Amino acid sequence: MKTEVVASEKVKAFDCQHFINGRFLPSQSGKMFQNINPATGEVIGTVCEGGKEEIDLAVAAAKRALSGPWKRMTTGERIAVLRRIGDLILERKEELARLESLDTGKPYSLSLTLDIPRAAYNFHFFADYLRSVGTEAYQTDEVAINYSIRRPVGVVGLINPWNLPLLLLTWKLAPCLAAGNTAVIKPAEWTPLTATVLAEICKEAGVPDGVVNVVHGFGPDSAGAALTEHPDVDAITFTGETTTGKVIMAAAAKSLKKLSYELGGKNPNIIFADADLDEAIETTLKSSFMNQGEVCLCGSRIYVERPLYEQFLQKFVAKTKELVVGDPFDPRTNVGALISEEHYERVMSYIELAKEEGGRILTGGKRPDGLDQGYYLEPTIIVGVNRNCRIVREEVFGPVVTVMPFDEEEEVIAQANDTHYGLSATIWTNDLRRAHRVAARIEAGIVWVNTWFLRDLRTPFGGMKQSGIGREGGMHSFEFYTELTNICIKL
Ligand code: NAI
Ligand code: MG
Repeated sequence: MKTEVVASEKVKAFDCQHFINGRFLPSQSGKMFQNINPATGEVIGTVCEGGKEEIDLAVAAAKRALSGPWKRMTTGERIAVLRRIGDLILERKEELARLESLDTGKPYSLSLTLDIPRAAYNFHFFADYLRSVGTEAYQTDEVAINYSIRRPVGVVGLINPWNLPLLLLTWKLAPCLAAGNTAVIKPAEWTPLTATVLAEICKEAGVPDGVVNVVHGFGPDSAGAALTEHPDVDAITFTGETTTGKVIMAAAAKSLKKLSYELGGKNPNIIFADADLDEAIETTLKSSFMNQGEVCLCGSRIYVERPLYEQFLQKFVAKTKELVVGDPFDPRTNVGALISEEHYERVMSYIELAKEEGGRILTGGKRPDGLDQGYYLEPTIIVGVNRNCRIVREEVFGPVVTVMPFDEEEEVIAQANDTHYGLSATIWTNDLRRAHRVAARIEAGIVWVNTWFLRDLRTPFGGMKQSGIGREGGMHSFEFYTELTNICIKL
């Protein structure tokens, strides 16, 4: 990995190679693909395209490493390594934030304050948490005692999306390593940069060779599929689209791999008339458009109680128009570029569809004036649609929200739950009893009341219905990344 950055903040040449068994190396096939900066449409580097050969090498290295020095490390030593990874991420925070923004098109200010610090914290958090991980013990009358021991699952495949590349990768890798596993990482093809630097950081922090491996490439017929099909991979943790999750599950079934899934969402944001309007609007701007709306937790279905509806819309539209869309490296920018031309076209096609379905665009819906290059889209607010419209049912994963009025609590709960997804929800109300009542009835893995994206890493994170399988976070991560053996001793 050349991490040469010229003064103009434009990257000269990034060659992302695979990291296997502690060494950077190209693909055996010699195949490469281009890395494009979504903010300009320009090629910023090349990426080695891995396939079955590289996955075979990486999995073999990971399997060997399970019984090497990594296994012999004490808990204290492993904690020190994890802490050092977190420290090194912070030391290189500006560089990593720059790479993340070049890769994704997201504002540098966001990478610097959210993605990268949280990536470091993921390691610091799980390093600390490791101290308190225990197991259960039961006494069976006077007959026996039972206790369980925890061991690593083995070789874990980590398959990641492009929206929060380093944040989501470290959210998996930190507990995976804390639990003593070895890892084969397949970063999203659109965002290979920070994962490549992370490999370098892991080595510097003292992670033994073979414990962390990174193989670049695509999904189907490429590195992703080869990883999910490999018989020596014991578990797969995947964050990405629901449809991809179904394909991976079928591939993983052949060797019955353990799976953890964080998938898509179409999350409701329910605003009752007694809510603090200014606070609700300020946070709704973020839950709608942060990271260009490319966050699985974004609240893309906004429901407002009728007495507040007009007033909410007026203020929300006005505030949305104030958001600055543009160059990710301009400090005034609130909304950067979408990840790729392909994704941009997909998001635009949903806006066209919404119009066909009777939707009215109150603001946005087009490329901002003066930004001819790059995949920029104005934050978009749509009204006049109903629960049967595809724009209300399907995940757009862009800066596009619908706003609908409601009259009754029962009605809005039914609408909120009328989806195959079940990742998160937000409720705005100052009525304590209503908050508890509604929160308990929303079918989602995470419900926020009067806030959004506020995370305590000890809490269970994940979705129900087609938004995921299992939970990660705190002890839940260790449940996934370890296997338990119950030992029963007759007295
Ligand atoms: P994606 O499903 O297209 O790709 C995710 C990863 O899977 C990539 O690394 C890709 O190369 C790989 N992949 C694709 N096909 C594969 C196959 N057949 N076998 C193995 N690997 C394969 O998702 P994308 O577009 O990168 O990310 C956006 C999606 O991720 C959205 O649907 C979003 O909701 C979801 N997401 C969910 C989150 C959550 O926590 N629930 C968080 C972030 C994103
Ligand atoms: Mg890129």
